[in-house]
Amino acid sequence: MRSDRRVNSTAQRLWRTYVPDAVRGRVNAVRSARRESVWRKSRDLGDLRRTTPFSTWGASRGGSIARVYIAQFLEQHADDIRGRALEIAGDEYLRKYGTGVTQVDVLDVLADNPKATFVADIADAPNVPDDSFDCVLITQVLSWVYDVRAPLRTARRILSEGGVLLATTPGIARIAPVESELFGEWWHFTSMSAKRVTEEVFGEGNVEVESFGNVLAAAASLYGLGAYDVSPEELAVRDPAFELVVAIRAVKA
Ligand SMILES: C[S@@+](CC[C@H](N)C(=O)[O-])C[C@H]1O[C@@H](n2cnc3c(N)ncnc32)[C@H](O)[C@@H]1O
Repeated sequence: MRSDRRVNSTAQRLWRTYVPDAVRGRVNAVRSARRESVWRKSRDLGDLRRTTPFSTWGASRGGSIARVYIAQFLEQHADDIRGRALEIAGDEYLRKYGTGVTQVDVLDVLADNPKATFVADIADAPNVPDDSFDCVLITQVLSWVYDVRAPLRTARRILSEGGVLLATTPGIARIAPVESELFGEWWHFTSMSAKRVTEEVFGEGNVEVESFGNVLAAAASLYGLGAYDVSPEELAVRDPAFELVVAIRAVKA
């Protein structure tokens, strides 16, 4: 190793000392043109060289990648999912990650949801009582409510003091075909915008925001690939430049 370095530095010295400037200039130009043409050669995109996704969310390919991150976030905060708890559209996450949940409520704007104990728009929901819940879970709903602060105001109003809102929302994401038609798709958040709007409602110091994802997870998700296609080790890498899921924890102080 050391002798290799010595040979290299001797070669460089000889090259600079004995090879005329004009020759060195021409050789360097050829080298840099070769480097440039290698760099410009298109990457081998393999199966990904296509302009339509494999599926919508990757559900048929081991489950959606965003859902892996949502599960991870809820598992991290399982202690907050307790007492009287409310989830939007279903109760699966409360039942799976709750620790000491004593009452489950489900809120949905769609009146035909048989699980709904409250039919209401989370943006207003006057039929849901104030100061009643220990935990409110709003997973993948905020993007489809135009008044971005309104669901956060409802969550704060219906939480008891010390109660916790856990919310997740798409960062880098495709447009949801069904929900965009039904409700309009208005926002894909960054952790910065999520923190700012949530703090406007819950107050500074009461909000934590984190993001999940990396370039591979984001690209795979956009392609409609699923958990079969990306390893847990690859999913575990968090690159703040690629926010696939933005997750909010806010406490009613
Ligand atoms: C993408 S799904 C997510 C639902 C669920 N929380 C989950 O994580 O699977 C969005 C659903 O939330 C409900 N929803 C959408 N907008 C709503 C609103 N403004 N108020 C209450 N529920 C709403 C509808 O049932 C809609 O299908």
